Amino acid sequence: MTRVQSQKETTVQITRSSHPLGAMVEGVDLSQPLSDASFAELKHALGKYGVLWYPHQQLEAAQLKQFAQRFGTLEINVANNFQEPGIPEVMVLSNIVRDGKPIGLADAGQSWHTDMSYSRTIAFTNILYGVKIPFRDGHSRGNTEFCNMHAAYDELPEELKAYLEGMTVEHDFNKFWEMMRREKGSARPPLTAEQRAAKPPVSHPIFLTHPITKRRVLYANPGYAMRINELPEDESAQILDFLFQHQVQNRYRYKHQWSVGDVLMWDNIGTIHNAVADYRADEHRLIKRCQVIADRVFEEAV
Ligand code: OGA
Ligand code: MN
Repeated sequence: MTRVQSQKETTVQITRSSHPLGAMVEGVDLSQPLSDASFAELKHALGKYGVLWYPHQQLEAAQLKQFAQRFGTLEINVANNFQEPGIPEVMVLSNIVRDGKPIGLADAGQSWHTDMSYSRTIAFTNILYGVKIPFRDGHSRGNTEFCNMHAAYDELPEELKAYLEGMTVEHDFNKFWEMMRREKGSARPPLTAEQRAAKPPVSHPIFLTHPITKRRVLYANPGYAMRINELPEDESAQILDFLFQHQVQNRYRYKHQWSVGDVLMWDNIGTIHNAVADYRADEHRLIKRCQVIADRVFEEAV
């Protein structure tokens, strides 16, 4: 007798990496609707492991959107117009130039940061689907690396935790944008007055309780964090500098080495990340992306 398995019956297998973050998820076809039980299991795993990757997926942009929107409202990026035709929630990240025109944002995330910490409603998860991945000298290029902010919080000196408790950090979208232009030779033009007005600096608590794990995390990142509002400027700069060095230590890291067909999903509340730019302009990378806002994940936590 042939047994036909529906998605509901398949078993999701989650295998944790040997690193301080990351787990591989098998036994789920993300092009198909997800059962409530599988969704709950994946959301829990995302909080626990910080980064999930699903190898060998085959997705249309609309299916990526459908999967992503189970986790919350999708962000539509205002900073550029590299959107999938007809599906503005799906953005194209790529260094490919076609007929003289770039087909995607070429240098997304190429320094340590947290997605959307500059937004009033912060990001929950970012979901990337690898379509083209550069490969040279026996390994893929363009890794995405992560650090564990549960562990970074846990290992802060107790006096510093107590001192900073209740304080807030100002985050500014323009900090990362200008750093890319100044330090990385990015061709991105300065933000227009209109773009800046659409993304004014915002403040968030320096420590957050993670809505899934219920543990405290360090919520500051070198990409967007400008200052600790409650401290004098020089003390704020000194402490932020300490936090930026503390949070990227090797012992908190996991490096994802991409394969074509990977879906990579990370938790932006409990991790920070960095896109490693170790490939050339003629080595093509093409990723489709959905960003999920942390609206539902906080609503469901209460
Ligand atoms: C992002 C990002 C990393 C990558 O999309 O926010 O940081 O490796 N991307 O493309
Ligand atoms: Mn990012």
